[in-house]
Amino acid sequence: MKHHAIVTLLDMQPTPSDVVVKGWVRTFRGNRFIALNDGSTLRNLQCVIDFENTDTNLLKRITTGAALSVQGTLVESQGAGQRVEVQVSQFEVLGDSDADLYPIQPKKHSFEFLRENAHLRVRTNTFGAVMRLRSALAFAVHRYFNEKGFFNLHSPIITGSDAEGAGELFRVSHLDPKSPPLQDNGEVDFSKDFFGKETHLTVSGQLEAETFAMALSKVYTFGPTFRAENSNTARHLAEFWMIEPEVAFMDLSGNMDLAEDFLKYVINDMLTNHAEDLTFLEDRLIQEDKSKPERERQAMTLTEKLKFVVENNFTRLSYTEAIDILKNSKPNKKKTFKYPIDAWGADLQSEHERYLVEKHFETPVILFDYPAHIKAFYMRLNEDQKTVRAMDILFPGIGEMVGGSQREERLDVLESKIDQLNIPREDLDWYLDLRRFGTAVHSGFGLGFERLVMFVTGMSNIRDVIPFPRTPGNAEF
Ligand code: 4AD
Ligand code: MG
Repeated sequence: MKHHAIVTLLDMQPTPSDVVVKGWVRTFRGNRFIALNDGSTLRNLQCVIDFENTDTNLLKRITTGAALSVQGTLVESQGAGQRVEVQVSQFEVLGDSDADLYPIQPKKHSFEFLRENAHLRVRTNTFGAVMRLRSALAFAVHRYFNEKGFFNLHSPIITGSDAEGAGELFRVSHLDPKSPPLQDNGEVDFSKDFFGKETHLTVSGQLEAETFAMALSKVYTFGPTFRAENSNTARHLAEFWMIEPEVAFMDLSGNMDLAEDFLKYVINDMLTNHAEDLTFLEDRLIQEDKSKPERERQAMTLTEKLKFVVENNFTRLSYTEAIDILKNSKPNKKKTFKYPIDAWGADLQSEHERYLVEKHFETPVILFDYPAHIKAFYMRLNEDQKTVRAMDILFPGIGEMVGGSQREERLDVLESKIDQLNIPREDLDWYLDLRRFGTAVHSGFGLGFERLVMFVTGMSNIRDVIPFPRTPGNAEF
């Protein structure tokens, strides 16, 4: 007999014929009531056992975490909390779970504890909800670009170029670390390596996406990216997923419109189609807030926050305007910023970004036209010769959600930039070709997928929105 997903059963009318359902025991009360969950929904299915006619040894095997197959009739529930339940006629323990050893007890566990048990944490309500929403968001991302006529490309994961020029690369090598071949000058001879050159895990699919944009016009990548930056923060991962659209014939203002429209679309999709998991996470945050002092509590609930983003325009302002605001801000004057803002040209830290978003504007903010020297080589130089057509989108509680730019499409300007930074031209010859043959204005951005999942789920640590986080000192599982 085919079994039903619990999410389907819970919405069915009571049926006189038997149904089969399979899942894991969350709780077993009074030798009678099994709360069964199969992950298809947050909700458990109540299965009622006729314990008087069930072997006690079999009853003992219904423990938290055990896998069961249950057969019975779907009836209107007598108890509160669910519309229907299953009157069990027979069941089978598919996999036992030793209640004394099973780490996921039916009680509240700390996120730290659950991170150490990341292979089991998705069996909890919170992580089930987060991971279902993550999956739904990924699907919404593809749907958005598909509806807008974008083509998806799979950019390479192993690459010979450092797209961001930040040097935060993980090497990919097949050489023997104990005795690598050496050049005359004593340095490792990577020409003898697997690919005949030095290679790394990609930090961004952008450069390759640009090649596709200059042929298919509207493209996007959505893949894993890797950064060996040693920042042990609640917002950085060494392995994260990035969404990178790239569009020919689009300038920076079109880029801002696209990013804002895209963010609103995917967030709205969560509000419209995934309210159950969202509401659960919202209640979790409300409970968490109760144990906090008044001033640390959230001004808005999770859904209010998401609606606020969907319904309001993002504030757009230049880096120069932002510096003026920050220079004259209270925390700057009172010297409570860790990095005081004293002059134009300073790189903005997350404390500054959050001040602008959370205190000054109270909306998401798109900052643009940053100083050239703090941004990547490929961004288009403005007429003032000192700023570039860059944009960052800053979100409350998150800081930088998106980084993007209009790309430098002029061959001579790009060449001189590459020379200034001592990047060998031959390394980027293929990239320069895009400017040699049919160059055109084009733009794109990168959205850190986990930061979006954080915002949507209200989770405060990025390690809790990816199945198996990779951070400095940690690559378990
Ligand atoms: O600002 P970034 O470095 O931009 C790029 O990589 C461009 N190539 C994107 C483009 O224009 N196509 O990174 C983009 C986004 C950031 O805004 C942030 O959301 C996320 O990627 N991000 C990280 N997320 C998690 N952990 C990290 N270590 C991250 N570094 C960047
Ligand atoms: Mg950035």
